[in-house]
Amino acid sequence: MAKSVRRPARKAASDPATMQGDSSWFVHDRFGMFIHWGLYALGARHEWLMHNEQIPVGEYERRYFRHFEPDLYDPQVWADTAAKAGMKYFVITTKHHEGFCLWDSDLTDYKAPNTLAGRDLLRPMVDAYRGNGLKVGFYHSLIDWHHPQYILDPHIGPYRASPEREQLNKARRQSRYADYLHGQVRELLTRFGKIDVMWFDFSYPKPDGSGKGRADWRSEELLALVRGLQPHIMLDDRLDLPYGWDIKTPEQVQPRQWVTVDGHKVVWEACQTFSGSWGYHRDEASWRDTDELIRTLVDCVSKGGNLLLNVGPTARGEFDPRAMDRILGIGEWMRRHSRSIYGCTQAPDEFGVPENCKLTWNPDRKRLYVHVLAWPYKQLWLPGQAYGERVEYAQLLHDASELTLNRVEDWQAHWVKSGPTAASVNLPQTRPGVAVPVVELFLK
Ligand code: GLC
Repeated sequence: MAKSVRRPARKAASDPATMQGDSSWFVHDRFGMFIHWGLYALGARHEWLMHNEQIPVGEYERRYFRHFEPDLYDPQVWADTAAKAGMKYFVITTKHHEGFCLWDSDLTDYKAPNTLAGRDLLRPMVDAYRGNGLKVGFYHSLIDWHHPQYILDPHIGPYRASPEREQLNKARRQSRYADYLHGQVRELLTRFGKIDVMWFDFSYPKPDGSGKGRADWRSEELLALVRGLQPHIMLDDRLDLPYGWDIKTPEQVQPRQWVTVDGHKVVWEACQTFSGSWGYHRDEASWRDTDELIRTLVDCVSKGGNLLLNVGPTARGEFDPRAMDRILGIGEWMRRHSRSIYGCTQAPDEFGVPENCKLTWNPDRKRLYVHVLAWPYKQLWLPGQAYGERVEYAQLLHDASELTLNRVEDWQAHWVKSGPTAASVNLPQTRPGVAVPVVELFLK
């Protein structure tokens, strides 16, 4: 837990409203892999295609449930790739809004073992990632466009504009769906060992009651179930409850500063895609490049947050070459620079941010990391007296090559009034050939 993050006081240890998960590993590890994998990978044009194209349940089953055959699926390859990227945890869609389940649930037939895959796809994934030392997270969709008891609303889902919607709803009971939801969460949290993150998605309450929120999921009860089964779990913030969650989850947007709630800094994690879609999208051309993704990771940590970076595997069961290129490219940078990510957080205010840079800070090792986004002319100016008073040694992180410091006695920098201070770092003329060069400052 970052020291400056305020958390509500615990009332009763057994009250799920005030219980909180173990965030100590989470704020240390900083970087995770999100995986969106389901039948929509076959459509290969966004995980919301059932909604977007208003595909009825039967038709969706005929096309995708019947033809799902991930014959190249090797979870060890996935887990190895995540480890190479420096990712320390992963969050997998056990079920997305389409309703299809990756594990061998007792509560539905709409599951991987009943496809051409012929087996539980979740368990070997959990084993492989856990075997590589990554923490395990489950994304589970609250929304379900397949379940026969789920009330069809006018906003979201394949039947939102259907003239039969109200007729279909007559035979439906949302509370029976909630029973199913709770039953499946119980399976997920009792059959796969220790689960570190529970990531529910999502609520959209509307003032006129036509959306979906806590009453539809029976969120208080669900929260109690989760905390009862796995008290330490890190829970996201999408159950439509003002309490009980551990993580704020900005999505497809980078916060401008450390995320706060009621004026208090909170634990947060941005989730981002490579190209816009979460599920595998064959034709999307808007892929971010590796350097930009590295800068996004740095940006998160510089504001005290995590990055959960998504990959959408193909329906054959592979990360496609564009994804591999980015993930391994990030790994290449992380191999030499993870010191500026793990265990790091936002720098104390007294350290001004040098021009075109982002700072991260390791409070235990007292090291400040200056991520240099645009290579300056000869010197990296360090704004603020705190630098002068506290920097004792500087080096480039990727090769530990010394960077000499300029003292104010030498330079008479006008903004430093007194004391023997370091005002700037001398840089090599040529920008190092790494995606984002980092200057490591050792503080007294
Ligand atoms: C959204 C979308 C979804 C994706 C998720 C990830 O809520 O519905 O497709 O799974 O965000 O944050």
